[in-house]
Amino acid sequence: MPKLLVARAMFPDVLAQLSNFFELELNQEDRIFSQSELAERLQGKFGMICTSSAKVDQDLLSKLSGVKIISTIAVGYDNFDLHACTQHGVMATNSPDVLNETTADFAWALMMATARRVTEAEHFLRAGLWTKWSVDFFVGADLHGSCLGILGMGRIGQAIARRASGFGMEVIYHNRSQLSEEKELAAHHARYVDKQTLLRHADHLILALPYSPEVHHIIGAIELAQMKPSATLINIARGGIVDDAALIQALRNGQIAGAGLDVFENEPRFHADFLGLKNVVLTPHIASATERTRRAMVNRAVKNVISAVRGELPPDLLNPEVLEI
Ligand code: 8YV
Repeated sequence: MPKLLVARAMFPDVLAQLSNFFELELNQEDRIFSQSELAERLQGKFGMICTSSAKVDQDLLSKLSGVKIISTIAVGYDNFDLHACTQHGVMATNSPDVLNETTADFAWALMMATARRVTEAEHFLRAGLWTKWSVDFFVGADLHGSCLGILGMGRIGQAIARRASGFGMEVIYHNRSQLSEEKELAAHHARYVDKQTLLRHADHLILALPYSPEVHHIIGAIELAQMKPSATLINIARGGIVDDAALIQALRNGQIAGAGLDVFENEPRFHADFLGLKNVVLTPHIASATERTRRAMVNRAVKNVISAVRGELPPDLLNPEVLEI
């Protein structure tokens, strides 16, 4: 039987399913492997199911032979060097689509919590500081009737935009390319604008673009300075898109009103200064974390490796060029 590394802890029923096709090497204690341990464990394997924590780059792949597929349980695949995968004859797959709605829900949860200062108010209450009510008590910003800006209008961005109809929000967006008229209509009449207009006009700006080196720190000091002082910034995309040190300065100086962050540069570590700020809502990369969606993401990753071992085309193949090698 071909061998498969299941690099993260996995649901037992999924392991039972996989064991019909593969001899499995598991990591049920859910340790994060160092690069050298990952190389050791992957050697001699047909493939691997992993998450965004597994870095698959030239260095790793050059130590391996015979690996046919790397399947991540994530839509984002910035941890994969696709070019290197192709060079080494490795198929790379992700788990798109099934998390769009869940992730969009969470972007809204973070936006609402940030705009209405939900976690800040809760911490105040829990600390026993609530002795009286006052007129300006935890006043925040409205969502209804405001302008929602979205940077990155892929499938998740569009799902975020659709939800704006119930709040009577205007939606503006910036993206590598403008959507078709039909897609803009479906995304609550989203209007394409340049990046500067997006920054200047959005009352709430949500980042929903994939990470690549080209977008590293695409939101930094200059961009934050262009936003409204009353605006909020929400990042459910990837750490590294925002310059976290610059964001901390902007939050401190009141250049923007607040931020809601599910992702961080170098996570699971993060800039310690975030903890000292009241106007930031912090969550540990959980935007796709619902029972149903995680199951759906896992099923998709499983389907990709099973297709590959059967000699079929994995449905979510990211580097089809590999088939020509
Ligand atoms: C993943 C994510 O759960 O899909 C993505 O790109 O960021 C999350 O949904 C996480 O990256 C673990 O792989």
